[in-house]
Amino acid sequence: MIDKLISEIDKSLKILSASPVGNRARPDLNIPDSKMLPEADKHLHAKFMRVNHTGEVCAQGLYRGQLFFNKNPNIKSELEKAAREEIDHLVWCEERINELGGKTSLLNPLFYFGSFVVGSMASIVDDKYNLGFLSETEKQVSAHLESHLNEINQEDKKTLTIIETMKKEEELHQASAINLGAKKLPKIIQTIMKKTAKLMTTSTFHI
Ligand SMILES: [Fe+2]
Ligand SMILES: [Fe+2]
Repeated sequence: MIDKLISEIDKSLKILSASPVGNRARPDLNIPDSKMLPEADKHLHAKFMRVNHTGEVCAQGLYRGQLFFNKNPNIKSELEKAAREEIDHLVWCEERINELGGKTSLLNPLFYFGSFVVGSMASIVDDKYNLGFLSETEKQVSAHLESHLNEINQEDKKTLTIIETMKKEEELHQASAINLGAKKLPKIIQTIMKKTAKLMTTSTFHI
C-alpha cells in the first residue's frame, strides 16, 4: 500500500509540475498557425485552452483516484487506456496555451487532488456507479468542448482541431463506460457535478 501511495504521489507531481510527455502526435501538427488571428482572440483562446487543460488535470485526478481503489481488471484496463489518452489531451492543451501566449491555471493542484478524492470515493461505492460517474463526466466534458467550438474564431484551425479531437475521444470514453455497464447517476448527483464543473470553468478562465 505504501509503495502504491508513493508511486501515486510521484505520478501526481509529474502531472502537476513537470510537463508530461504525450503518447501521440498532436492532431493539428500539419496545420499552420493563422496569421489573421487578432491578438484579442489569441488571448481568449489561451484562456479557453487553460480551462480545457484544467479539465484534463481533473480527468487525470479522477482516473487516478478511480484506479487507486479499483479491483475489477476489466474496468482497470479501460481506465488506464482512457487515462493515457487524457495525458495526450493534457499535453496538447498545454502546448497550445504556450503557443497562444497564455499560462496554465494556478488552481490545478487544488482541482487535481479534489478530483482524486472524488474518483476514489466513486470507486469505493460501487463499480457500476464508478462507471456511471465516469460516463457522466465524459458527457459533460464533451458538451463543454462543443460550446468552445462555437465560441472560437474559426480562423484558429489549430485550436479547433485539438478541441474536436478531444471531444471525439471523450465521447468514446463515455461509450466505453456505458458498454462496461455504467449505471445512470441520480439527478441530484448530475446537478452537483454540473455545478462543480461550472465553478472550475469560471475560476480557471481567470486564474
Ligand atoms: Fe480529455
Ligand atoms: Fe475523457
